[in-house]
This record gives sequence, structure tokens and C-alpha cells, in this order.
Amino acid sequence: MRQWLGLPDTFFGLIHDTASIASLHAILAAREWASPEARRTGERRSLILYTSEHAHSSIDKGAVAVGIGSENVRHVPADSEFRMRPDALAALIEEDVAAGKKPFCVVATLGTTSSTSADPLVAIADLAERHSLWLHVDAAYAGPAAILEEYGHILDGAQRADSIVINPHKWLFTPMDLSAFYTRHPDVMRRSVSLEETPAYLAAAQQERALNYSDYSLALGRRFRALKLWFVLRYFGREGIAQVLRGHLRMAQDLAGKIRRDPDFELSAPVPFSLVCFRYRGSNGENRALLDRVNATGRTYLSSTVLNGNFVLRLAIGNIATTQDDIGDTWELIRSSVPRSTGSRA
Ligand SMILES: Cc1ncc(COP(=O)(O)O)c(C=O)c1O
Repeated sequence: MRQWLGLPDTFFGLIHDTASIASLHAILAAREWASPEARRTGERRSLILYTSEHAHSSIDKGAVAVGIGSENVRHVPADSEFRMRPDALAALIEEDVAAGKKPFCVVATLGTTSSTSADPLVAIADLAERHSLWLHVDAAYAGPAAILEEYGHILDGAQRADSIVINPHKWLFTPMDLSAFYTRHPDVMRRSVSLEETPAYLAAAQQERALNYSDYSLALGRRFRALKLWFVLRYFGREGIAQVLRGHLRMAQDLAGKIRRDPDFELSAPVPFSLVCFRYRGSNGENRALLDRVNATGRTYLSSTVLNGNFVLRLAIGNIATTQDDIGDTWELIRSSVPRSTGSRA
């Protein structure tokens, strides 16, 4: 998978259950990198972590779990297309340095949860290098798109990351749970979860020649998750996967076109991948009622978010069984479910 994604051979990979746990490990490694004494003494300085205001909540959770403290997480403002602003990141870093704090980690997102926006990885990697920050890329959802030749560029800059997570259980047809985590610094990852002394009951296992993934993660026991991904990769092959993903991308663009042409609806965000964020040109309450009405039919399931203060409907395409007809039928269902009080203006 690393080769298909165009990531460097020097990236060491291991499988976690979820992106949340993978990102927690990234933050743990970042802390080990910046503050090796913290493993013994606990952290005494204010280590500062930066991520976009649109990053997934797992980054905040990870920072809290690692003991960074929620007050030491900076949510960097995003631009009008929901991407982290590198100028705002640079300003926050400088402010923190001036205040005697220690910036240590930046988490960029490729495919944010609400709108699938992509943070500018190259500019963020430049800043990370300038300030010696650990760069973790959360590509949980959008990462698999880099398997397509024409989308390979989305990981530009990720080659310079210190770690990256990609979730085949989101957009690579793999059943829950499978999250692929790569790092350029397996030695740091290992140190971050190792103890000064190996307990006696594990000494025999340590003598084996096999690579012990438990040396690189908090969990000791592991399920054989790789098998289900192996089946997906073998069954579809790279070209087969590319065809399915292209189909999803096409369906999303097709739906986005319908929404653009419909005077009753508007797109709420760009559509770079296979998620379409849109809303009825009405109140938040009407949009919420529309969502409930559509989902109550049991024929489709839309989710929602809030963008720029607006309640927004999210239609995510990621299942191998989804067809163009499903999307067409869903759009018809949405159109015929617009709030009755105002009626359709079409
Ligand atoms: C960008 C992003 N990161 C992380 C996660 C968390 O994923 P997981 O359920 O694998 O922990 C999500 C879930 O929606 C996500 O969209």
C-alpha cells in the first residue's frame, strides 16, 4: 500500500485499529522526539500542538491523553475553503515561542471530516522543518485517493512528514477496523512506548527474531487485521481499486453539478473527493427537518455538519455497492422532501 500511495520506502508501517489511536501514537512519538526526559519526569514545559480548526476531534483527544493539555492545542484558523492557513500557523508558532512555550507538533489533515478539505502540506512541511516540529498527516479518509495517478499529487509534502495515517476502513472497502500508520522514525516510536526493563513474562517473546509490533504501540496483543486488507488489495488490484475510486469521484462531481444547477439548493464546500456538502436554501431548522425526513425513509443515510454557521447535509460516497442510480434516486428523494411549509421554488 505504501508503494501504491507513493510514500517513501523509508516509512515504517504498522496497523492500528483506528485513526484516533494512530494519531495518539503520533503525538506520543512527537513528545518523545521533543522532550525525551518527559517519559521519566512527566512533561514540565508547555509543549504546543497545532492543528486546523477543522481537524478531527481525535487530535484533541490524543493530545489530552498524552498529557499535552487541551489548553496547549492551537486550532489554526482555516481559509474560505476550510484549509489550514500557513500564515496563521506561522503567527501562532511565533507567538508561542515569544511566550517561552515549546511548539512540538503540527497535525495537518488531508480530507477534513466536515468538508474533506486538504491542508496545504508543502507549506506546512516547510514550517514544520523551520521550527523542528513533528509533522503528522491525518489522511484517514482522503489518503487512498493518492492510489490514482491523477490524484498522486495530494500527498505532495507528505513524503516529508514524520508520520501519516490512512484508513482503509473509510475509503478502501475494508471492514472496520483497519488504520495504516507510517512513520519515518520507528526508533522514536519504539522509544516512546518502551520501558527501561522488559518484564520477565515478556522476555522470551523479546528473544524471538520476529518484529514485535507491540514494541511500537501501546497494545501488547493484536488482531491479524492485515489479512482483510490483503484480500482487498489482492481481489481488486491497483487498477480495480482505481476504477472504483474514480467511479465514486465521478458520482460526487455529477451530484455537485445537479446541486449547482438547482435554484433551491447550494453547495456548501468544494468537492475535492467523494463527499458532497450542500444545503437547501432555507433556514438551519428547515435543513435539519429535511435531513430527518430523508433519513426516516430508510432508503439512504445522510449525515450533517455545520460550516460557516450553516447546518449542512453531507452525502458521502464510499461503498463498493453504490451506483450512479443510487445517487440519482437519493437526489430525487432529497428534492421531493424539501420543507413543505415553504415548498420547492424550482
Ligand atoms: C479526518 C479524520 N481523522 C480521524 C477520524 C477518526 O477515525 P477513526 O474512527 O478511525 O478513529 C475521522 C473520522 O471520521 C476523520 O474523518
